[in-house]
Amino acid sequence: MTTQSEQRGDVAALVPAAGMGLRLGPGAPKALRDLAGEPLLVHAVRRLRQAPSVGCVVVAVPPGAIEDVRAMLGPEVLLVEGGATRQDSVALALAAVPGQYKIILVHDAARALTPPAVVERVAEAVRAGAPAVIPVLPVVDTIKQVDASELVTATVDRAVLRAVQTPQGFDRQTLVSAHDQADDALTDDAGLVEQMGVAVLTVPGDELAMKITRPLDLRIAEALL
Ligand code: CTP
Ligand code: MG
Repeated sequence: MTTQSEQRGDVAALVPAAGMGLRLGPGAPKALRDLAGEPLLVHAVRRLRQAPSVGCVVVAVPPGAIEDVRAMLGPEVLLVEGGATRQDSVALALAAVPGQYKIILVHDAARALTPPAVVERVAEAVRAGAPAVIPVLPVVDTIKQVDASELVTATVDRAVLRAVQTPQGFDRQTLVSAHDQADDALTDDAGLVEQMGVAVLTVPGDELAMKITRPLDLRIAEALL
Protein backbone atom coordinates (compact mmCIF):
# COMPACT_ATOMS: atom_id res chain seq x y z
CA MET A 1 0.00 0.00 0.00
CA THR A 2 1.21 3.48 -0.80
CA THR A 3 1.26 5.81 2.16
CA GLN A 4 0.60 9.53 2.11
CA SER A 5 4.26 10.34 2.81
CA GLU A 6 5.50 8.26 -0.15
CA GLN A 7 3.31 10.35 -2.45
CA ARG A 8 4.71 13.64 -1.28
CA GLY A 9 6.67 15.69 -3.74
CA ASP A 10 5.89 13.57 -6.82
CA VAL A 11 4.32 16.48 -8.74
CA ALA A 12 5.97 19.22 -10.82
CA ALA A 13 4.10 22.53 -11.04
CA LEU A 14 4.60 24.84 -14.02
CA VAL A 15 3.82 28.50 -13.43
CA PRO A 16 3.35 30.60 -16.57
CA ALA A 17 4.18 34.09 -15.27
CA ALA A 18 5.56 35.81 -18.36
CA GLY A 19 2.48 37.84 -19.32
CA MET A 20 2.48 41.62 -19.38
CA GLY A 21 -0.80 42.14 -17.54
CA LEU A 22 -2.13 44.61 -20.08
CA ARG A 23 -5.66 44.47 -18.66
CA LEU A 24 -4.33 45.47 -15.25
CA GLY A 25 -3.18 48.79 -16.71
CA PRO A 26 0.29 50.37 -16.99
CA GLY A 27 3.07 49.03 -14.79
CA ALA A 28 5.40 46.06 -14.32
CA PRO A 29 4.51 42.61 -15.74
CA LYS A 30 1.54 41.29 -13.74
CA ALA A 31 3.40 38.51 -11.89
CA LEU A 32 5.85 41.07 -10.49
CA ARG A 33 3.23 43.57 -9.30
CA ASP A 34 2.68 44.21 -5.64
CA LEU A 35 -0.12 42.45 -3.79
CA ALA A 36 -0.22 43.36 -0.09
CA GLY A 37 3.52 43.99 0.06
CA GLU A 38 4.82 41.10 -2.03
CA PRO A 39 4.89 40.32 -5.76
CA LEU A 40 1.89 38.33 -7.02
CA LEU A 41 4.24 35.55 -8.11
CA VAL A 42 5.57 35.12 -4.57
CA HIS A 43 2.04 34.58 -3.26
CA ALA A 44 1.28 32.06 -6.01
CA VAL A 45 4.47 30.03 -5.60
CA ARG A 46 4.25 30.01 -1.80
CA ARG A 47 0.78 28.42 -1.90
CA LEU A 48 1.88 25.87 -4.50
CA ARG A 49 4.82 24.82 -2.36
CA GLN A 50 2.55 24.49 0.68
CA ALA A 51 0.83 21.63 -1.15
CA PRO A 52 2.59 18.41 -0.03
CA SER A 53 2.36 16.87 -3.52
CA VAL A 54 4.46 19.57 -5.15
CA GLY A 55 8.13 18.61 -5.30
CA CYS A 56 9.28 20.87 -8.13
CA VAL A 57 8.22 24.31 -9.34
CA VAL A 58 9.20 25.74 -12.75
CA VAL A 59 8.33 29.39 -13.40
CA ALA A 60 8.24 30.98 -16.86
CA VAL A 61 9.33 34.54 -16.09
CA PRO A 62 8.85 37.77 -18.05
CA PRO A 63 11.62 38.63 -20.55
CA GLY A 64 14.76 39.87 -18.79
CA ALA A 65 13.44 39.16 -15.29
CA ILE A 66 15.34 35.97 -14.39
CA GLU A 67 17.66 37.71 -11.92
CA ASP A 68 14.86 39.65 -10.20
CA VAL A 69 12.70 36.55 -9.88
CA ARG A 70 15.62 34.48 -8.58
CA ALA A 71 16.00 37.02 -5.77
CA MET A 72 12.26 36.78 -4.97
CA LEU A 73 11.85 33.03 -5.04
CA GLY A 74 15.23 31.65 -3.94
CA PRO A 75 17.35 28.85 -5.39
CA GLU A 76 14.89 25.94 -5.23
CA VAL A 77 12.51 27.16 -7.90
CA LEU A 78 13.54 26.46 -11.52
CA LEU A 79 13.29 29.48 -13.83
CA VAL A 80 12.99 29.74 -17.59
CA GLU A 81 12.33 32.81 -19.71
CA GLY A 82 8.73 32.74 -20.96
CA GLY A 83 7.51 33.01 -24.56
CA ALA A 84 5.24 35.23 -26.64
CA THR A 85 2.03 33.41 -25.67
CA ARG A 86 0.91 31.57 -22.55
CA GLN A 87 1.08 28.32 -24.51
CA ASP A 88 4.72 29.05 -25.46
CA SER A 89 5.56 29.83 -21.84
CA VAL A 90 4.02 26.54 -20.67
CA ALA A 91 5.92 24.59 -23.36
CA LEU A 92 9.21 26.20 -22.32
CA ALA A 93 8.59 25.42 -18.65
CA LEU A 94 7.54 21.87 -19.50
CA ALA A 95 10.84 21.28 -21.30
CA ALA A 96 12.70 22.14 -18.06
CA VAL A 97 10.92 19.60 -15.81
CA PRO A 98 13.27 16.88 -14.49
CA GLY A 99 12.50 13.43 -15.89
CA GLN A 100 11.33 11.82 -12.66
CA TYR A 101 8.11 13.86 -12.44
CA LYS A 102 5.22 11.99 -14.07
CA ILE A 103 2.43 14.30 -12.84
CA ILE A 104 2.44 17.90 -14.02
CA LEU A 105 0.28 20.81 -12.93
CA VAL A 106 -0.02 24.06 -14.87
CA HIS A 107 -0.93 27.02 -12.69
CA ASP A 108 -1.36 30.70 -13.62
CA ALA A 109 0.71 33.09 -11.53
CA ALA A 110 -2.34 35.36 -11.82
CA ARG A 111 -4.33 32.95 -9.56
CA ALA A 112 -2.13 34.04 -6.69
CA LEU A 113 -4.49 33.12 -3.82
CA THR A 114 -5.28 29.54 -4.87
CA PRO A 115 -5.47 27.44 -1.69
CA PRO A 116 -3.08 24.47 -1.43
CA ALA A 117 -6.16 22.23 -0.96
CA VAL A 118 -7.16 22.85 -4.60
CA VAL A 119 -3.64 21.91 -5.71
CA GLU A 120 -3.88 18.66 -3.71
CA ARG A 121 -7.34 17.86 -5.08
CA VAL A 122 -6.11 18.13 -8.67
CA ALA A 123 -2.87 16.24 -8.01
CA GLU A 124 -4.73 13.45 -6.22
CA ALA A 125 -7.16 12.95 -9.11
CA VAL A 126 -4.27 12.62 -11.60
CA ARG A 127 -2.50 10.24 -9.23
CA ALA A 128 -5.71 8.19 -9.10
CA GLY A 129 -5.54 7.71 -12.87
CA ALA A 130 -7.22 10.63 -14.66
CA PRO A 131 -5.02 11.82 -17.57
CA ALA A 132 -6.30 15.40 -17.29
CA VAL A 133 -8.00 17.22 -14.40
CA ILE A 134 -9.35 20.76 -14.09
CA PRO A 135 -10.77 22.62 -11.07
CA VAL A 136 -14.13 24.23 -11.84
CA LEU A 137 -16.93 26.27 -10.28
CA PRO A 138 -20.61 26.46 -11.22
CA VAL A 139 -21.44 29.49 -13.37
CA VAL A 140 -23.44 32.08 -11.43
CA ASP A 141 -24.42 34.42 -14.26
CA THR A 142 -27.01 33.58 -16.89
CA ILE A 143 -25.10 33.12 -20.15
CA LYS A 144 -26.50 34.23 -23.52
CA GLN A 145 -25.23 33.42 -26.97
CA VAL A 146 -25.25 36.36 -29.41
CA ASP A 147 -24.74 36.84 -33.14
CA ALA A 148 -22.52 39.36 -34.95
CA SER A 149 -25.10 42.13 -34.36
CA GLU A 150 -25.15 41.43 -30.61
CA LEU A 151 -28.67 40.02 -30.83
CA VAL A 152 -29.37 37.12 -28.52
CA THR A 153 -29.61 33.81 -30.33
CA ALA A 154 -29.83 31.45 -27.36
CA THR A 155 -29.80 31.12 -23.59
CA VAL A 156 -27.34 28.42 -22.63
CA ASP A 157 -28.45 26.05 -19.85
CA ARG A 158 -26.34 27.23 -16.93
CA ALA A 159 -26.59 23.88 -15.17
CA VAL A 160 -24.25 22.28 -17.69
CA LEU A 161 -21.64 25.07 -17.64
CA ARG A 162 -18.53 25.37 -15.47
CA ALA A 163 -16.00 28.17 -15.04
CA VAL A 164 -12.48 26.76 -15.27
CA GLN A 165 -9.58 27.58 -12.95
CA THR A 166 -6.01 26.41 -12.46
CA PRO A 167 -3.97 24.40 -11.51
CA GLN A 168 -4.84 21.99 -14.30
CA GLY A 169 -3.26 18.58 -13.79
CA PHE A 170 -1.97 16.08 -16.32
CA ASP A 171 -0.17 12.87 -16.62
CA ARG A 172 3.13 13.99 -18.15
CA GLN A 173 2.84 12.12 -21.45
CA THR A 174 -0.65 13.51 -22.07
CA LEU A 175 0.54 17.11 -21.61
CA VAL A 176 3.67 16.57 -23.73
CA SER A 177 1.60 15.06 -26.57
CA ALA A 178 -0.95 17.87 -26.34
CA HIS A 179 1.77 20.49 -26.67
CA ASP A 180 3.44 18.60 -29.54
CA GLN A 181 0.16 18.53 -31.46
CA ALA A 182 -1.03 22.02 -30.58
CA ASP A 183 -1.49 24.30 -33.56
CA ASP A 184 -3.06 27.47 -32.24
CA ALA A 185 -3.37 29.48 -29.07
CA LEU A 186 -6.03 28.11 -26.73
CA THR A 187 -6.55 29.74 -23.34
CA ASP A 188 -6.04 26.56 -21.36
CA ASP A 189 -3.99 23.41 -21.48
CA ALA A 190 -6.95 21.09 -20.99
CA GLY A 191 -8.30 22.47 -24.28
CA LEU A 192 -5.30 20.99 -26.05
CA VAL A 193 -5.97 17.63 -24.39
CA GLU A 194 -9.66 17.77 -25.35
CA GLN A 195 -8.63 18.27 -28.98
CA MET A 196 -6.80 14.93 -28.79
CA GLY A 197 -10.01 13.25 -27.63
CA VAL A 198 -8.73 12.52 -24.11
CA ALA A 199 -11.30 12.72 -21.27
CA VAL A 200 -10.87 15.70 -18.94
CA LEU A 201 -12.13 15.25 -15.36
CA THR A 202 -13.48 18.15 -13.30
CA VAL A 203 -12.99 18.56 -9.55
CA PRO A 204 -14.27 21.39 -7.33
CA GLY A 205 -12.33 24.63 -7.58
CA ASP A 206 -12.39 27.47 -5.06
CA GLU A 207 -13.44 31.12 -5.23
CA LEU A 208 -10.01 32.05 -3.89
CA ALA A 209 -8.50 30.66 -7.10
CA MET A 210 -9.93 33.69 -8.95
CA LYS A 211 -7.73 35.08 -11.71
CA ILE A 212 -6.38 38.55 -11.09
CA THR A 213 -7.02 40.19 -14.43
CA ARG A 214 -8.35 43.74 -13.99
CA PRO A 215 -7.62 46.44 -11.37
CA LEU A 216 -10.76 45.53 -9.39
CA ASP A 217 -9.49 41.94 -9.05
CA LEU A 218 -6.28 43.22 -7.46
CA ARG A 219 -8.29 45.19 -4.91
CA ILE A 220 -10.47 42.17 -4.16
CA ALA A 221 -7.36 40.01 -3.68
CA GLU A 222 -5.87 42.61 -1.34
CA ALA A 223 -9.08 42.69 0.68
CA LEU A 224 -9.09 38.88 0.91
CA LEU A 225 -5.57 38.89 2.30
N1 CTP B 1 1.43 34.19 -19.46
C1 CTP B 1 2.71 33.73 -19.78
N2 CTP B 1 3.29 34.06 -20.99
C2 CTP B 1 2.63 34.85 -21.86
C3 CTP B 1 1.32 35.31 -21.56
C4 CTP B 1 0.73 34.95 -20.34
O1 CTP B 1 3.34 33.03 -19.00
N3 CTP B 1 3.24 35.18 -23.00
C5 CTP B 1 0.86 33.86 -18.15
C6 CTP B 1 0.54 35.11 -17.32
O2 CTP B 1 1.72 35.60 -16.69
C7 CTP B 1 -0.52 34.62 -16.36
C8 CTP B 1 -1.19 33.48 -17.12
O3 CTP B 1 -0.38 33.20 -18.26
O4 CTP B 1 0.01 34.13 -15.14
C9 CTP B 1 -2.61 33.83 -17.50
O5 CTP B 1 -2.59 34.92 -18.42
P1 CTP B 1 -3.32 36.31 -18.20
O6 CTP B 1 -4.10 36.32 -16.94
O7 CTP B 1 -3.95 36.67 -19.50
O8 CTP B 1 -2.05 37.28 -17.91
P2 CTP B 1 -1.42 38.35 -18.87
O9 CTP B 1 -1.29 37.80 -20.25
O10 CTP B 1 -0.19 38.84 -18.20
O11 CTP B 1 -2.50 39.54 -18.82
P3 CTP B 1 -3.13 40.35 -20.06
O12 CTP B 1 -3.75 39.31 -20.95
O13 CTP B 1 -4.10 41.28 -19.42
O14 CTP B 1 -1.97 41.06 -20.70
MG1 MG C 1 -3.09 37.29 -21.39
